[in-house]
Amino acid sequence: MEKIIVKGGNELKGDVKISSAKNAVLPIIAASILGNELITINNAPLLEDVSVICDVLNELGSNVSINKNDLSITIDSKEVKPVDANDELIRKMRASFLIMGPMLSRHGCFKLSLPGGCNIGSRPIDLHLKGFKALGADIEIGHGYVEAKAKRLIGDRIYLDFPSVGATENILMASVLAKGTTIIENAAEEPEIADLANFLNSMGAKIDGAGSGKITVDGVDELKGTNYTPIYDRIEAGTFMIAAAISRSKIKIRGANEEHLRPIIEKLKECGIIVEYLEDENSIIVDGRCNVKAVDIKTLPYPGFPTDMQSQMMALLTLATGNSMITETVFENRFMHVSELCRMGAKIKVDGRTAFIEGVNKLTGCDVKATDLRAGATLILAGLVADKYTEIRDIYHIDRGYVCIEEKLRALGADIERV
Ligand code: UD1
Repeated sequence: MEKIIVKGGNELKGDVKISSAKNAVLPIIAASILGNELITINNAPLLEDVSVICDVLNELGSNVSINKNDLSITIDSKEVKPVDANDELIRKMRASFLIMGPMLSRHGCFKLSLPGGCNIGSRPIDLHLKGFKALGADIEIGHGYVEAKAKRLIGDRIYLDFPSVGATENILMASVLAKGTTIIENAAEEPEIADLANFLNSMGAKIDGAGSGKITVDGVDELKGTNYTPIYDRIEAGTFMIAAAISRSKIKIRGANEEHLRPIIEKLKECGIIVEYLEDENSIIVDGRCNVKAVDIKTLPYPGFPTDMQSQMMALLTLATGNSMITETVFENRFMHVSELCRMGAKIKVDGRTAFIEGVNKLTGCDVKATDLRAGATLILAGLVADKYTEIRDIYHIDRGYVCIEEKLRALGADIERV
């Protein structure tokens, strides 16, 4: 079993290049099912989750090839068929459910294993299904599967009770080839949704308003091929911003969009960290050579503070001067990292959806376990400043979402290795 070992105390220096966003690339690959012509995705992050969705498409009859040299993925979905998808593969990753919208739209029927819960919460799919039903699909659930059927999807007005990222993406993909106009209200506004819409528009879709709470889709009859470069990963960039802040270092993060990072930038500034955006370089300089002040945070759908940065921010606040409070409103069980941080000397108490963090002077390295993707990155961040060695187990979680995290940190001067 692989683990990551970090020896704390090194100052970080230099610059780091951010990869494309995993959460943009996964729906983009799923959306490729909608086209009959060749699609090329440039600068793809070659991560475990990305290879899972590529394997899923290959199982369905698409021809997907990953070119590790130029980081491109080419997808030809001419031959895609509504065959039973391999359950084991589908259940590896919840985001596999994103193939439902495009498969239903393209083939008029599709059956898929129901996604289960996961470490951070039960994560239902009711909003995805509500959208498909509004577009005219019949939905049947039984024996662990969901089956959707519709001769041709027909546009309608869909109001989401909560701005779910996955539901917005799935409904958006289903509606692109539907007859007439679809309006998604209370849609998720995350930058990855706008990126998916830009990708689909580059294939000939007619989507307006993606990135806002109201998305309008005028259905088209077919989509063509495209060559597309997805947005930078704002969560990876945010994680490196905290790496600088927690290790009291100054680094440059190349491949950053100021607007997408706004909620993180503003919170770090409130903590006293100096953040400078270099517009002509798409880069951010983070200078953490200061005392970190305690702050309160509430996670919210974009443009609120991202739940995917909650645990990393908590690692930083364990060492802040004063008491901080973090309220998690997006997922019901996203404090699994708290007990691991406490093993490292943090003082955190959890009451329901709120964590109370009392700043301490130092963290101490020990054996810890990555309980999910972002929690794993959090333990690396804590390890960067902890006394002596932090050994992180179950690092497969980290590999799902961070491209070469230890290489990137080592290049910045961290003492980190995978064994
Ligand atoms: C996506 C991201 C994930 C991020 C999350 C919130 C991808 C691949 N994953 O996950 O990294 O943490 O957005 O920013 O992009 N919900 C329902 N019913 C539904 C769907 C969701 O109740 O039908 C609830 C969920 O249980 C959760 C909340 O809505 O409590 C947010 O989930 P959602 O926005 O759908 O997240 P994902 O798309 O799964």
